[in-house]
Amino acid sequence: MLSRKWEVFAHFPLSTQHSALSTAFWPLVVVEETAALRKLEEALAEHYGWATSPSARAKVSIAIARKAGRLHIPPDEYCKHAAASQSEMLALVEEAAVGETYFFREPEQFNYLRTEVLPALIASPPADHRLRLWSAACSTGEEAYSLAITFDQVKPPRSETQAEIFATDVRNRALLEASRARYHIPSLRMVSAKLRARYFEHTGGTPDAPLNGRYTVIPDVRRLVTFRRVNLMDGVFWKGISNRFDLIFCSNLLLYLHHAAVRQMVERLSRSLREGGHLVVAPTEASLVEHSRLKPVKDCASFFRRLPSAK
Ligand SMILES: C[S@@+](CC[C@H](N)C(=O)[O-])C[C@H]1O[C@@H](n2cnc3c(N)ncnc32)[C@H](O)[C@@H]1O
Repeated sequence: MLSRKWEVFAHFPLSTQHSALSTAFWPLVVVEETAALRKLEEALAEHYGWATSPSARAKVSIAIARKAGRLHIPPDEYCKHAAASQSEMLALVEEAAVGETYFFREPEQFNYLRTEVLPALIASPPADHRLRLWSAACSTGEEAYSLAITFDQVKPPRSETQAEIFATDVRNRALLEASRARYHIPSLRMVSAKLRARYFEHTGGTPDAPLNGRYTVIPDVRRLVTFRRVNLMDGVFWKGISNRFDLIFCSNLLLYLHHAAVRQMVERLSRSLREGGHLVVAPTEASLVEHSRLKPVKDCASFFRRLPSAK
């Protein structure tokens, strides 16, 4: 039998749970700390790098309650089941991960990209004239398309330089939405009317709510982006991508990871950059990036530049 407090959370709609979690609701979430819950958290830390902080626990326990509720089993039993089954653990990750994102989330970063980083890359591109950009925890794709739009804005008409934007996330459901490239106005809250008109096809607005409806990214931008499912804690994935990228956005992921996973991730990200390439994290994560190979950029504090390797 489900205990009453778990049942209550199991029946909240997911959207309510998400907004509840972003408010002062956390202290009200009742979490029974059992051996099975701790074991599942350890498995999530090992396989996905997730931290076991109180806020992470609040989020995971709500997803556990929902999953257990749907299966009509007690949360403890669900924890044992998920810890023992890779596919169930991934199903839990699909539900428990924070996927919040929107276009041009940090305007200062995109300004710096537009005025400094991309013009310099386009002026002296790699030998094959292809820039390789990566949105490493892309969620539903807004960041990857923001990179593609910025490239399109900056690229001079006759330049031979092309961009390949690689976009990855661990959640299949988010990637499916990303590849559909259809958004609603809240995702475009940082996009000017001019950019909206240039880079999105709008359908479904009404005379009294003209901004409602769907905004689909135009094909010329979509074709720059390739989505792929990747668990960034999977060591095999990192083999063969050393010195590859000119720019990596890994934004709003590090803050959800435990200390050892952050260190490992920063090491791997720094190694996958070309010399002189940039790593970009969320401004709130900048203090987590410490690596001898990476130097903070003076003019934009959440950009880090890969230093040349010692000869
Ligand atoms: C808050 S979103 C960040 C979206 C975007 N980068 C931004 O800053 O707006 C964090 C994303 O990290 C993904 N994620 C969490 N753990 C991961 C892992 N081990 N490997 C790959 N992606 C992961 C989640 O699925 C989620 O979509």
